[in-house]
Amino acid sequence: MLHLHQVTKTYRRRQHEVVAFKAESLDIGLGEYVAVVGPSGSGKTTLLSLLGGMLSPDTGKVWLDNESLYDLSITERTQRRRERIGFVFQTFNLVPYLTALENVVVPLYLSGMAKSEQRERAVALLEQVGLGNRIDHKPSELSTGQQQRVALARTLANNPRLILADEPTGNLDPASREAVLSMFDQFVNEGRTIVMVTHDPAAAARADRRLCLRDGELVASEDTALVEVA
Ligand SMILES: Nc1ncnc2c1ncn2[C@@H]1O[C@H](COP(=O)(O)OP(=O)(O)OP(=O)(O)O)[C@@H](O)[C@H]1O
Ligand SMILES: [Mg+2]
Repeated sequence: MLHLHQVTKTYRRRQHEVVAFKAESLDIGLGEYVAVVGPSGSGKTTLLSLLGGMLSPDTGKVWLDNESLYDLSITERTQRRRERIGFVFQTFNLVPYLTALENVVVPLYLSGMAKSEQRERAVALLEQVGLGNRIDHKPSELSTGQQQRVALARTLANNPRLILADEPTGNLDPASREAVLSMFDQFVNEGRTIVMVTHDPAAAARADRRLCLRDGELVASEDTALVEVA
């Protein structure tokens, strides 16, 4: 489903050059659950952004479903992102002045769904994450765990086949963390592909595969990966 070939991403700040990510090749198959681990600044978010069509590499190619993402026009790339990819962030990125329902409606509206269906689908998604009784609450009127579940409902809105998550459990208490991780298990069972950045060894252990980054490069050992996040 995802393929990287000879990708590099370098940032230049004044005299300084930082190789944020570099890989000869990387494949992620359909339905795989992959954890990305590594120290702060090792390139995890950079990798996720490259995979999600949000950051063009300096060299190399990123394929999503056999299309070279950065050879598409911006309009086409935005469309692929909207149709196929769901993003989950550590800080949820909910719109503060919109209710839970309205936050979930946003991507449905952007996808051009008929107005009458938008509300129905948004309610069903919020019910699916156990928030059917909180649809009119704004983010500030929800607990942290509930906010992340609204964010998950929003992520699922367009039924994405690929979910890219950047420390999705980083701000959560143990019970909410478990709720989010079991939803991820369910997403994988539904045939979705997940790439999840995490500092949490227990979360990383639930994935099928662990990618360990160090100074922008993938390093081989799974054991190192588990020690790294511990
Ligand atoms: N916009 C930018 N301009 C300059 N350097 C950047 C930029 N974004 C990231 N970097 C650098 O690239 C490297 C990789 O950053 P990245 O955000 O991918 O790390 P990370 O592994 O996600 O870290 P963390 O665990 O702290 O989130 C870091 O050294 C960072 O300082
Ligand atoms: Mg990061």
